[in-house]
Amino acid sequence: MIEYRNLRVAILGGGSVGSQVAHLLLEQGAELAQRAGAGLEVVGIAVRNLDAQRDTALPKELFTTDAESLILGADIVVELIGGIEPARTYILQALHSGADVITANKAVLANHGPELFEAAEQVGAQLYYEAAVGGAIPIIRPLRDSLAGDRVSRILGIVNGTTNFILDRMDTEGDTLEGALAEATRLGYAEADPTADVEGFDAAQKAAILASLAFHTTVPLDAVHREGMTTVTHEQVLAARKAGYVVKLLAICERITDADGVEGVSARVHPALVPLSHPLAAVHGANNAVFVEAEAAGSLMFYGAGAGGIQTASAVLGDVVSAARRHVAGGPGVAESTHANLPVLPMASVTTRYQITLTVLDEPGVLAAIATLFSDRGVSVEGVSQTVRDDAAATLVIITHEASESALAATVEALATTPVVSAVVSVLRVEGL
Ligand code: HSE
Repeated sequence: MIEYRNLRVAILGGGSVGSQVAHLLLEQGAELAQRAGAGLEVVGIAVRNLDAQRDTALPKELFTTDAESLILGADIVVELIGGIEPARTYILQALHSGADVITANKAVLANHGPELFEAAEQVGAQLYYEAAVGGAIPIIRPLRDSLAGDRVSRILGIVNGTTNFILDRMDTEGDTLEGALAEATRLGYAEADPTADVEGFDAAQKAAILASLAFHTTVPLDAVHREGMTTVTHEQVLAARKAGYVVKLLAICERITDADGVEGVSARVHPALVPLSHPLAAVHGANNAVFVEAEAAGSLMFYGAGAGGIQTASAVLGDVVSAARRHVAGGPGVAESTHANLPVLPMASVTTRYQITLTVLDEPGVLAAIATLFSDRGVSVEGVSQTVRDDAAATLVIITHEASESALAATVEALATTPVVSAVVSVLRVEGL
């Protein structure tokens, strides 16, 4: 039997992911040691309150409230507390002490990534974060390693399971937004306060992480354009399906060139129409998927469980094994690559396609007047479908060719004040064509 050197693993956080990571390390230690080339000894689990109700199958003596002592005695620190503080301080302490750090914390990475990566680089340690985006789905390592020889041009991600569950239920069950949200809460997908999910804050953090990694550029969280999905109506979802689309909350990270020829990147989160033929349209329930377009590789899709204790623990343990292998091999960690340092361009520079639904008067000349409003602002119409109603009105659904956000906004403003248009019913971006 091979005698492995032991690496000390400290776990910060005793919630569902922390407990599962501890369980798996304790139960599968011998097998993991063979894969890692080192024993992985759980030296403790730092929690805020020793008396809180938790998994009784884990040895009581592992739990401690003294996170700092645990960190200072560890080779590998697994941060599963979430939120900004004290997670940020603990990660910095661990890195400064030379430990490798594994985190599933999207908030701390999206808000303080550069500070943390710099701290890791200074001491030659490494910060691993496979579980921070897409739960169990391997997406960080593919972007960082497997696609390191390629150029990523675009990422379309369903990176929030709660909102995908809600939109999917509205689509497949004909539920209202309120009904679907209540069901998501009942099943434990949505938090008591669902704001972070439904308003797109969670997805925006993940978009900042993915865009930074994919484009070798620091993309700050406040540069991510964010729109939530609480404005999506039952009627929009039904109309979308009839027209051959499904509504998804997407995180979109792209390499773009603006009207002045400046090359940069953009990151945005908003509801969008996705054609039913696109692989993302088949992502149901609370699942996540990240669709990557790369110049040489073409299109790739990474799919699976975006949350859940044991599922997320799988990604965390993969990082623990990688960190252990690195310790065994020696040498400095791989620094985060930001060499491209591209400008992050504003939403006004983005071009995409739109579906605009209008209620209009059903009279001669109306279509021509509306078409002029589009052409005057440089927005080219790809298709129009009209449904005549029995009240001398008609519903027009207009799909545009690619247009800039600014041209589209000007067109919608003009439509809203034009007498022949009774109402601008809906404006949705169309992605994935
Ligand atoms: N609230 C998140 C979701 C959990 O619904 O996907 C994972 O970040």
